[in-house]
Amino acid sequence: MPKTILITGGAGFIGSHVVRLFVTKYPEYKIVVLDKLTYAGNLENLRDIDKSPNYEFVKMDICDQDVFELFQKYKFDGVIHLAAESHVDRSITDPMAFVQTNVIGTCNLLNAAKESWKDAFEGKLFYHISTDEVYGSLEHEGFFVEETSYDPKSPYSASKASSDHFVRAYHNTYKMPVVITNCSNNYGPNQFPEKLIPLCIHNIKNNKPIPVYGKGENIRDWLYVVDHAHAIDVVFHKGKVGETYNIGGNNEWTNISLIHKLCEVMDVQLGRAAGDSAKLITFVKDRAGHDLRYAIDSSKLQKELGWEPSLQFEQGIVKTVEWYLTNEEWLNNVVSGNYTKYYDEMYGK
Ligand code: NAD
Ligand code: TYD
Repeated sequence: MPKTILITGGAGFIGSHVVRLFVTKYPEYKIVVLDKLTYAGNLENLRDIDKSPNYEFVKMDICDQDVFELFQKYKFDGVIHLAAESHVDRSITDPMAFVQTNVIGTCNLLNAAKESWKDAFEGKLFYHISTDEVYGSLEHEGFFVEETSYDPKSPYSASKASSDHFVRAYHNTYKMPVVITNCSNNYGPNQFPEKLIPLCIHNIKNNKPIPVYGKGENIRDWLYVVDHAHAIDVVFHKGKVGETYNIGGNNEWTNISLIHKLCEVMDVQLGRAAGDSAKLITFVKDRAGHDLRYAIDSSKLQKELGWEPSLQFEQGIVKTVEWYLTNEEWLNNVVSGNYTKYYDEMYGK
């Protein structure tokens, strides 16, 4: 069935991989990307597909009233909502920006969908992309499952938890067809270098210190971004309305062991002597309220919808490093201007 789908945040890291997958895999669909193009949004991420006849880009803020007109104009069948403020450190310095986009913006989109779909919800779907961080922080044992109580601990995760609650409330109250996924940390091409992996790659390449928060003992579960995009495709087409699915890589690393792995890969790729890049490791002040461990149990998605991650981390990290080293221009463009200001404020000059 041809469909018209709105993808919000499609110029960002994960969004651009989702847009590429949908535009190329479903030529019969019309894909409309809505993005405000904040510091994290970059049309370069979509350059390879932006001439496709089934792709259209609209620069807009999800908080704007214009969103209602967009729904009237395109009569969307589905929404895949990724637009968000997404970086924990920024949420610590400017929480209100997270309330505005992640909470108010999501409610605005829900209202626009409700208004546009008021005659019939049949065949419609509002798919909200969320994070495992809404579940809070784990000790060394156990995993997050879909039934784990929400216990967000940072302004970022609190704003995402709030948006998840609103999405479920619209399902319960108005019977809007919704689905939510909560995913673990993503890595791969096109990630803005404020997040751990691209920031480390950038610094190692330029012989700058690698800032490790605290003792580097915090644990994250890493998933290759293209595998996340495939999971989103599966859930959008086969997910059960009203359900939540966890998505994860079953791939836990302490930050310090991940950084050592990255240093090894960079030494090989840059032709450096073994151990050279690791000399850049520098322990810095810990993040305020730093969550110790995230670990996802994604067996529901695997058993019910047949998704599983395709790439081993060892392959994924090599592919990722190769991408950043090959796409020097992309990296140089995104670290110009405001990035330097952010970096100096965060880590010192
Ligand atoms: P990102 O920061 O790279 O991209 C966010 C995109 O949203 C950017 O293109 C930005 O311009 C756009 N945007 C921001 N505010 C907007 C607004 N008010 N109106 C319209 N567009 C706006 O983020 P990402 O890492 O690609 O994450 C995408 C989604 O996935 C987010 O909802 C995030 O919470 C979720 N998520 C991310 C991860 C991860 O590891 N990156 C893991 C799980 C879930
Ligand atoms: P990040 O990529 O910001 O993702 P999140 O906080 O959403 O998990 O950080 C991943 C981990 O790396 C987290 O434990 C914080 C840590 N970290 C550092 O040690 N140094 C850094 O410079 C950054 C950005 C993160």
